[in-house]
Amino acid sequence: MTNQEVDVLVVGAGATGLSAAYALQRAGRSVLVLESRERVGGRLWTDEVDGVDLEIGGQWVSPDQDALLAMLGELGLETFERHREGESIYVGLDGQRRTFTGEQLPVAHAVEAEMARLTALLDELSGQMDPARPWDMPGARELDQVTFLGWLEQNCSEPEARDNIGMFIAQAMLTKPAHTFSALQAVHMAASAGSFSNLVDSEFILDKRVIGGLQQVPLRLAERLGSAVRTGRDVEKVAWTDAGVTVSSGDLTVSARHLVLAIPPTAVTRVRFEPPLPSIQRETRQHQSFGQVIKVHATYESPFWRDAGLSGTAFSPYEVVHEAYDNTNHDEPRGTLVGFVSDLQADAVLRLSADERREVVLSSLSTYFGPQAAAPLTYFESDWTSEELGSGAYGSSFDVGGLTRFGPRLREPVGPIQIGSSDVAGLGFQHVDGALRVGAELAEAIVEG
Ligand code: FDA
Repeated sequence: MTNQEVDVLVVGAGATGLSAAYALQRAGRSVLVLESRERVGGRLWTDEVDGVDLEIGGQWVSPDQDALLAMLGELGLETFERHREGESIYVGLDGQRRTFTGEQLPVAHAVEAEMARLTALLDELSGQMDPARPWDMPGARELDQVTFLGWLEQNCSEPEARDNIGMFIAQAMLTKPAHTFSALQAVHMAASAGSFSNLVDSEFILDKRVIGGLQQVPLRLAERLGSAVRTGRDVEKVAWTDAGVTVSSGDLTVSARHLVLAIPPTAVTRVRFEPPLPSIQRETRQHQSFGQVIKVHATYESPFWRDAGLSGTAFSPYEVVHEAYDNTNHDEPRGTLVGFVSDLQADAVLRLSADERREVVLSSLSTYFGPQAAAPLTYFESDWTSEELGSGAYGSSFDVGGLTRFGPRLREPVGPIQIGSSDVAGLGFQHVDGALRVGAELAEAIVEG
């Protein structure tokens, strides 16, 4: 048995935990980070699969993400732009494949007008919300009591407009069906990116990638923290009093004045606390759940779609792959398409065998990009649903009514314990930017407190 004493114990070596630990160390506190997995990064994971470097987890950086951009600068990481020249593809309610340029989907005038109206409405609502306190916006309670699907149906009678606006938040962001979360949660997703218009603008939200992969952020932070980061250390039990915590993991026992639990809400419910967390804290986390998305990577000898004048961007709420992009690595001759299969489609696809799944997904990519898309050199699915510690992707969100009922309690410390992850962020909610903001806030609460 080894005993160690530190000022702050951080559990979780994702972007939140490592950025909190880094800030605390720079503020002169002794820290130790315990991470359950054998690697750091959590939902950031860049790895070589069949000879291709893939972003298995998070990857994109957008211009509003100040905290992430500042961290990239500090860590000396460089970015490159996503390839986006050429025509994009949309498959509509009529099953027709159409190409377009710019942000406006090629839909009938009536659908276009309704989409513009809903976009303006969601921009207005998100403009009234402070993403750090969504429950305080005017009409929050009413918006939290109606599902996003119900809200879309109340506000728009054009099915294709509803399906597209729904897709941008349900399939593409929260990765849950629009009938499972509230209109307030949808507005929060938009407000956390500055506006709904930002969120639906793929030029904006999916702007840049990091050379070498976004996992470089946690890897470099861990490098700076050195021996203060220990992987393969699952924390199952936390004993606490107002004076501090004692945590055991395998043969290691750590005593600390403060604990930063930088893990997703679903992982908090795995940990046993002695004494138990106040019931409101447990209940709050029982009402947050992960969405479901399979990120699919298909690599080809070359980015063949570019020769056909296509950007590699494709959308359809009616396709198995609801969105796809050119995800070719920096300075790489081979071309990679990344596609996303989300919520109900993900449920259905996950019931298939691996071979059937591959066929269904590649057939959907072929609908967008032609028969060549069906024969990649390598094919890989990032399946976060089978990860016990996360159980889904990209993040977790509240069920209907949960944001106003439990949201205000989410960030309350419990004695010496601070809890947070990108799942509780205001700006940058469910994104690395939000993780870094929460990490900085948790560290500040300890330093200032
Ligand atoms: P995260 O879950 O990363 O870290 C928590 C850590 O705690 C994990 O390492 C876990 O193993 C550990 N842990 C849990 N329980 C533990 C215990 N009991 N003991 C010890 N350790 C424990 N974002 C973005 O900005 N741009 C993007 O393009 C994308 N795209 C994207 C795609 C996919 C497929 C995913 C899965 C996610 C994204 N994201 C994203 C989201 C982004 O990756 C995510 O919001 C942050 O990386 C979350 O960082 P956190 O540190 O908050 O949690």
